Amino acid sequence: MKLVVAGTGYVGLVTGACLSEVGHKVVCVDIDSNKVEMMKKGISPIYEPGLDELLMSNYEKGRIDFTLDYVNAYKDADVVFIGVGTPEREDGSANLEYVYNVAKQIAENIEKDCLVVVKSTVPIGTNDKVEDYIKSNLKNKVSIEVASNPEFLSQGTAIKDTLHASRIVVGVESQRAESILREVYERFNQPIVVTNRRSAEMIKYASNDFLALKISFVNEIANLCEIVGANIEDVTKGMSYDERIGSKFLKAGIGYGGSCFPKDTKALHWLASDNGYELKTVKATIEVNENQKFKLIRKAIQKYGTLKGKKVAVLGLTFKPGTDDLREAPSIPNVRRLLEEGAEVIAYDPVGIKNFRRIYPSGVNYVENPEDALRDADLAFIFTEWEEIKKVNLLRYKELMNKAVLFDGRNCHDISEALTAGVEYYSIGKKEIV
Ligand code: UDX
Repeated sequence: MKLVVAGTGYVGLVTGACLSEVGHKVVCVDIDSNKVEMMKKGISPIYEPGLDELLMSNYEKGRIDFTLDYVNAYKDADVVFIGVGTPEREDGSANLEYVYNVAKQIAENIEKDCLVVVKSTVPIGTNDKVEDYIKSNLKNKVSIEVASNPEFLSQGTAIKDTLHASRIVVGVESQRAESILREVYERFNQPIVVTNRRSAEMIKYASNDFLALKISFVNEIANLCEIVGANIEDVTKGMSYDERIGSKFLKAGIGYGGSCFPKDTKALHWLASDNGYELKTVKATIEVNENQKFKLIRKAIQKYGTLKGKKVAVLGLTFKPGTDDLREAPSIPNVRRLLEEGAEVIAYDPVGIKNFRRIYPSGVNYVENPEDALRDADLAFIFTEWEEIKKVNLLRYKELMNKAVLFDGRNCHDISEALTAGVEYYSIGKKEIV
């Protein structure tokens, strides 16, 4: 079977690498020549632990290749996976331009029967439309079918999430498409859930939006905990013993970011509205998250009146640890606010500085370790719970900072540690140590 993957972002490249790892022959297509050259050297254009090694070893074994030449890649493909981006439009809807570009290229070049598999997160009904679009633009007399096969990988653990997926969702409209995808995924030995295409598309949105809802719910409970004198960490611990609730995705903080939750909540909300239905829980999830991002900076401004002239240490820039991705990272609007306030910002992140510098090439002072950020600072914010940041003992904050005041947006430290160190400590859903 010749497998082709269109797009080498998180979804496409990880899919291609993992398909080759289980022994398939895979060709990955991208439009960016720099990326293709890098990948041929075994260098991943995205930061993802373990991906370089996987690319290198499978490239050397001749199981994976990278090309700009989509004509030759598509013409004799048995299966083409579409893994291109579906970014958010201004109105919250998903932009399907890249998906349709690939669909057009497939339609114009395919010379044999082929299954087109949409892995990108797309609004419900898109697979039907993509199939119609390809069929009506075909240049050769071949049989084409489209299947939905959403991915559930998290950045930072993408390879494990793919090779040991919790489930493989296959949305098909024919027995033939189902058996092709069963054959592709046989070697993964994971549970396969077969549905129709629309249900598969919905599974992806419903899963992501449910996880985002869980986070916003816990953030609201955390906010209430602060008001009524409860501790969110004890509360979620107590909740987690109930298997129906579980222990995951109950971590309170300054809100979710990343390339999926913000976009997918808005896209599903938009899709519901477009169909005359209001998804109230998803709407609330979005609103709570928007508000949560600024929770600590509001507290800081309230405390000081103004942050003008204050030296502020910013620890963590990426939307979560284990990635260099800054998409929808709460650090971005917070740093903007700090700069607008007239604060002096000194920022540290183990891998995110390169990308952050593109957003703020000037105005922010970047340093290579957390202690350099803390030195002589008047206050500090933690925006990402990197190990490198968590392991800095609060006693060091006390020693290094001008005034040891910490706004911990990821609850990296305990109240008792702050008390012992003599640090003024503000976190999410816990008592303030003033
Ligand atoms: C997510 C989904 O987990 C994945 O299944 C989907 O395919 C893509 O979107 P990802 O965006 O990589 O993956 O990150 P994830 O680990 O889910 O975290 C998303 C955001 O939620 C981060 O900003 C994280 O800090 C935040 N989060 C997560 C919390 O605030 N609390 C939690 O308990 C968990």
